[in-house]
Amino acid sequence: MPKQEFPFPMPNGWFCVTRVGDIQNGESKPFTFCEKEVVAFRTESGKVSVMDAYCGYSGINLAISGKVDGETINSPKHGIKWNIDGSCAEIGKDSGVPKEAMEVKTFSYPCQELNGFIWAWHHLLKEEPYFEIPAIDGFNGEDSKWGKEHHYEYHINTVLQEIAENDVDQAHFPKVHGSPSLPETEAIIDGIYRKTIAETLMNPNNDSVSEEFHVADPSMFTTTFTRESWGLGCVGLHMVNLPIDETTFGGEFIMVNASCPVDNKNSTLRWSMRVTKDIEDELGMAIIDGIANGVLDDMPIWDHKSYVAQPILCDGDGPINKFRKWVSQFYSDPLQAR
Ligand SMILES: [Fe+2]
Repeated sequence: MPKQEFPFPMPNGWFCVTRVGDIQNGESKPFTFCEKEVVAFRTESGKVSVMDAYCGYSGINLAISGKVDGETINSPKHGIKWNIDGSCAEIGKDSGVPKEAMEVKTFSYPCQELNGFIWAWHHLLKEEPYFEIPAIDGFNGEDSKWGKEHHYEYHINTVLQEIAENDVDQAHFPKVHGSPSLPETEAIIDGIYRKTIAETLMNPNNDSVSEEFHVADPSMFTTTFTRESWGLGCVGLHMVNLPIDETTFGGEFIMVNASCPVDNKNSTLRWSMRVTKDIEDELGMAIIDGIANGVLDDMPIWDHKSYVAQPILCDGDGPINKFRKWVSQFYSDPLQAR
């Protein structure tokens, strides 16, 4: 039986291009974003832009050959300068380029900086953003309660839908991760937003946690684990009521999963994780390390998986089919794409 490739186009929504700190003022970098080559750059004054990599006039790859010049990116050879919105700012003197070229545009993606990431809006039909992602508490400069921020990046050989569907697949937690399953509540769905809450029994020294981060007291504990998604690109996770010592509870864990569909076979996940200072020294690092390593168990499965259009489920219209119904809203018809 041949491998079934994922049948849907690049999804619509806000997706992460890179981290805020990865592009300094005056710097530009190439990325593949939703099957397109793009240039992400920051002007001298600090404004960020994510633009089609190919100069709208000459086709020169701005991510490779362009240079940030003041508030624009300069396409070499003709000295055409592009504003951050993709409009033409200036044509090089004596370049021989007709002044009508001032009307030409290079496609610029709506973009924003939030939660420590640079996000760009992708819509297959180039429609404007129709939802927002929120500022997530703990990732926008609030430091009094939170410990150090830990960053991870994963390149995964599958699409975001397959990765997200994994969390809905309760059966895989004990089998793949050797951890208790997460008996999540029925998902709360409101348009592009999806939320699940799980009362989870946790083993602080579970199989995913590196030896060096094992805690002295390996007692199991229960935490309330909330997962919120804004489309397929932004997920926020929150655990509360974590043990601070044998009798005190109230530690917290937060995480943002900022994802990017690279193309129909590759995705990049960027994770930021933090715990409150009261559990930072021991339990917090065990949780962070366990989560960071847990995804490594899933990766060999994703690398080789075939897409199954209609999984047979024990209980009829189970969570996977409900998840697929929710996710279907993020795909436009490729036949309508220009
Ligand atoms: Fe997993």
